[in-house]
Amino acid sequence: MLGLICLAITGIVLLGFVVLTPKAATEDRTFLKDTGLEKDTAAGHILVTGGAGYIGSHAVLRLLEENYRVTVIDNLSRGNAEAIEAIRSAMDEMPNLPYRPFTYAEADLSEREAVLGVLRAANPPIDTVIHFAAVAFVGESVARPLQYYHNITMNTVTLLEAMEQAGITRLIYSSTCATYGNQKVPITEKTPQVPTNPYGRAKLFSEYAIKDQSLALNMAGEKFAAILLRYFNVIGADPKGRVGEQPREELRSQGRISTACFDAASGVIPHLTIFGSDFPTPDGTCVRDYIHVSDLVDAHVKALKALKDGEVKVYNVGVGKGYSVKEFINACKTVTGADITVEKKDRRPGDYAEIFADSTKVKKELSWVPAFTDLSESLATAWAFRKKGGFGSTTT
Ligand SMILES: NC(=O)c1ccc[n+]([C@@H]2O[C@H](COP(=O)([O-])OP(=O)(O)OC[C@H]3O[C@@H](n4cnc5c(N)ncnc54)[C@H](O)[C@@H]3O)[C@@H](O)[C@H]2O)c1
Repeated sequence: MLGLICLAITGIVLLGFVVLTPKAATEDRTFLKDTGLEKDTAAGHILVTGGAGYIGSHAVLRLLEENYRVTVIDNLSRGNAEAIEAIRSAMDEMPNLPYRPFTYAEADLSEREAVLGVLRAANPPIDTVIHFAAVAFVGESVARPLQYYHNITMNTVTLLEAMEQAGITRLIYSSTCATYGNQKVPITEKTPQVPTNPYGRAKLFSEYAIKDQSLALNMAGEKFAAILLRYFNVIGADPKGRVGEQPREELRSQGRISTACFDAASGVIPHLTIFGSDFPTPDGTCVRDYIHVSDLVDAHVKALKALKDGEVKVYNVGVGKGYSVKEFINACKTVTGADITVEKKDRRPGDYAEIFADSTKVKKELSWVPAFTDLSESLATAWAFRKKGGFGSTTT
C-alpha cells in the first residue's frame, strides 16, 4: 500500500515537473547556465547583444569558429528566432568544438537587472561585450526619434552600468557612418560628426557615453578598453548560407536597398522605389559604401585582439569605394537575372548625397583586408540565401 502511495506521489511530482518546465521554456526562454563544462578551452567569453539580428548572427558564427564562448542577449524585437536555431545547427558542423559554448538569453537591454543577471550568471565570466543590438532604420528614426534615443542611447547607458556592476571592462560598439552626416568624402575618423537624423545622433550620443565612461573608469584605475567601429552600408550573407538578412514582414517597408531590390526581382513587390534622383552625384542617386557582412565581422575579430586597457579607439569599416543607387540596381539585375522596374520618389528627410569611407586606419592598425570588394559578388551571397528560402520562410 505504502509503495502504491509513493508511486502515485512520484507520478504527480513528475507530471508537475513536465507541465511546469516545457522544453521550450528551458531551452529558449531562460538563461541557460552551461553546466557541461569541465575545463574551459575557449579563447574568451563574449556577450553579443543583438545576436539574433543580421550582423550579430554572422558575428556569433564567426566567434564560435574562432573558439570563443558566446552568450547572446536579444529580445527578438527585430531579429529572428530562426537565426538562433541556425547557430545551434551550425555548431553540429563545427567538429573542433569540445563543448557547446553558446548560450541564448531572451532579454531586453532596457532591463538592467535582467542584463546584470545574464552577466553575473555567466560561467566562465564574460570578458568582453560586443554591442550590436539596436533599432537601425534612418527613416523610422525620423518618424520615431524617442524610440531611437531610448533603444540606442539609453540602452547603451544601461549596458555600461551593468558592465560596471559586473566588472566587465572591454567593449566593441557598433557605430555607424550616419554619425558623420553630410561631409566631404572620403570620410576619415577625423571627419567632423554632424549627424543629420535621430539614428545618427542617438549613435553619436552612445559614443560619447562610452568615451566618458572609459575616462571615468580609467581615472578610478579600472582600465576600460573600447573600440568603436563605424560601419558603412552592410550587405551580403554568410557565404555558406547558414544565416543572412531577413527583415521581419512588418519592417520590410523600412528595409534596406538590397532587401527591396530582391523583393522587386522576385515579384514580392511590383517595383523598386528609390528616394531622390536629384542628388549632387554623377547620376543623381545616392552614393554609399557597401561592405560585406563577413568582412565587417572580420574587423570585429581583429578588434577583439586589439582591445587595449585604458584606450578607446575608433575605426571606419567600409570598403572605401562608393556605388550609386543606380549602380547598385544594375548589380542586382546582374545577380538575379531579373529586370527590376524602378519607381522614383522624392528624397527622404535625413538622407544625404554621398558617403564612403577612408578605411586606411583599420587596414593599417588592425591588418584588416576586405575579401569582398566586388558589389555583384557580395550581393550574390545574399541572393543565394534568399533563393534557398532564407530561414525557411516563404519569402523567396
Ligand atoms: N545593417 C547596416 O547596414 C548597419 C550599418 C551601420 C551600423 N549598423 C549597426 O549594426 C548593429 C546591428 O544591425 P543589424 O543590421 O544587424 O540590425 P538587426 O535589426 O538585424 O539586429 C539588431 C538586433 O538587436 C535586437 N534588439 C533590438 N533592440 C533590442 C533590445 N532593446 N534588447 C535586446 N535586443 C534588441 C533585435 O531583436 C535584433 O536581433 C546596429 O547597432 C546597427 O545600428 C548596421
